[in-house]
Amino acid sequence: MMNHHVTKVTDDIHWVGVVDWNLRDFHGFSVSRGGSYNAFLINGDEPILVDTVKAPFTREFLDKIAAVTDLKKIRHFIINHIEPDHSGAFTEVLKHIPNATLYASENAISGLHRYYEFDRPIELVHSGEIRKLGNHVCQFVETPMAHWPDSMMTYMPEEQVLFSSDIFGQLRATSERFDNELDPPYEDAALYYANIILPFNHIVLKTLEFLPKNKITPRLILPDHGIFWKDHIADILAYYRCWASGRCAHGALILYDSMWGSTERMADRLYRELSKSDVKVRKLHIRSTPMSQIVTEIMYSKAVLIGTPTINDTIFPSVGQLLIYLQGLRPGPGRIWGGFGSYGWGGGGVEYLMRWYRENQYELIGDPVESRFRPSADINQGCDDMAQAIVERLQAASQ
Ligand code: FEO
Repeated sequence: MMNHHVTKVTDDIHWVGVVDWNLRDFHGFSVSRGGSYNAFLINGDEPILVDTVKAPFTREFLDKIAAVTDLKKIRHFIINHIEPDHSGAFTEVLKHIPNATLYASENAISGLHRYYEFDRPIELVHSGEIRKLGNHVCQFVETPMAHWPDSMMTYMPEEQVLFSSDIFGQLRATSERFDNELDPPYEDAALYYANIILPFNHIVLKTLEFLPKNKITPRLILPDHGIFWKDHIADILAYYRCWASGRCAHGALILYDSMWGSTERMADRLYRELSKSDVKVRKLHIRSTPMSQIVTEIMYSKAVLIGTPTINDTIFPSVGQLLIYLQGLRPGPGRIWGGFGSYGWGGGGVEYLMRWYRENQYELIGDPVESRFRPSADINQGCDDMAQAIVERLQAASQ
C-alpha cells in the first residue's frame, strides 16, 4: 500500500519524498536498512518543486504533491541533481506540471537531455545566482563533482534553509524526518560519505568554506536522502570537515581473506601484536563484510594492511574486487598501507597487491610479508616487525 504521508517541514516547505524500505543495494553499495529519496514542495504563492524521486515511486510522489497543491499550480521546478534516484520521475512529472519553469545547472541540462526525451526548455542558473520565485527567494550554489558534474544546492536565504542534494545525506529508511526525532544518524552519514563522497574530499572542504563566506548559514539542511539536519547542524558540519580532511583517521585496520587459513593466521598475528600497543586496531574478513562497510572503516583508519592468498598465480578474487572498489574511491592519500599473504606454489597474490599499491601511489609501510603455506616462525617475526613499524609510525603521527 502506498504511503501518502506528507511532512510539513516549515510553514511552506513540504517533504513529498518517498521511503524505500526494501532498498538493500544502491548501485552496488550495500545498505542494510533501506533509504529514502527526498523531494520538496515549497507551497508559496508560486509553488516550487525541488527535485523528484526514483522512477518506481513516481505515482506515490505525484499523489503526495497533489495532497498539498494542484500540480498545475506549480510554477517553478528546480533540478538540483540528475542522478536517476532524484530524476527518475522527471519526464512523468513534466506532464503534470505544464505551468512550471525549470531551472538547472549547465551540466544538469545536458545530462537530462542525454537521459530523457523531453521538449521543455530549462532555464540555466549559475552559482551565486539569486531568483525571486513568487514570495520565496532561492540562491543556487553549484557543487560540481560533489558528487556529479551537475550537482547543485539551493538555498533560501530568508528562511535559512539549504536543499543540499546528496551532501549531508544518509541512506536509512525511517518514518522520522528530523534529527531530533531519533539518535542523529552520523553512522549512516559516514557510510554514505565513504561510499559516495570520499573521492571529492577537496570539493567538500571548498564548499564548507564557501558557504559561510557567502552568508549561507542554514538553520535547516534538507538533503536528498535521509534525515533533515536541524538541531545537529554544527555536528554534521564538523563530521564532514573531519571526514574530508582525514582528521578522523586513527588506528590500524587489517583486511584479509584466506583460502586454507594461512593468511588468516598472519592477520591474527598482526592483530595480536598491534593489540599489545595503544593503537586502536580492527580486523575484518573481506568476504564476510560488505564492501561499503569496509570502505567506511578505511575512512576511519590511518594504517591499512591488506592480506591475500594466492589462487592460480594471482590475487584472491574478493581482495581483487576490493581493490577495484578502492580504485575509484581513492582513499590512498593520508594513510599508510601494507600487504601480506600466503601461497602454495609460485605466489602471485601479494605481488599483484603490491603492484597495485605502487601503481596507485599508495604510501607503503615497507616490504610485504609472504608465507609459503602455513606461517613459520620467521614469517610470524615478519608480521611482528610490520606491526611494530605501524605502531611507531602511528605514534609519531599522533605527537
Ligand atoms: Fe542521490 Fe547522486 O544521487
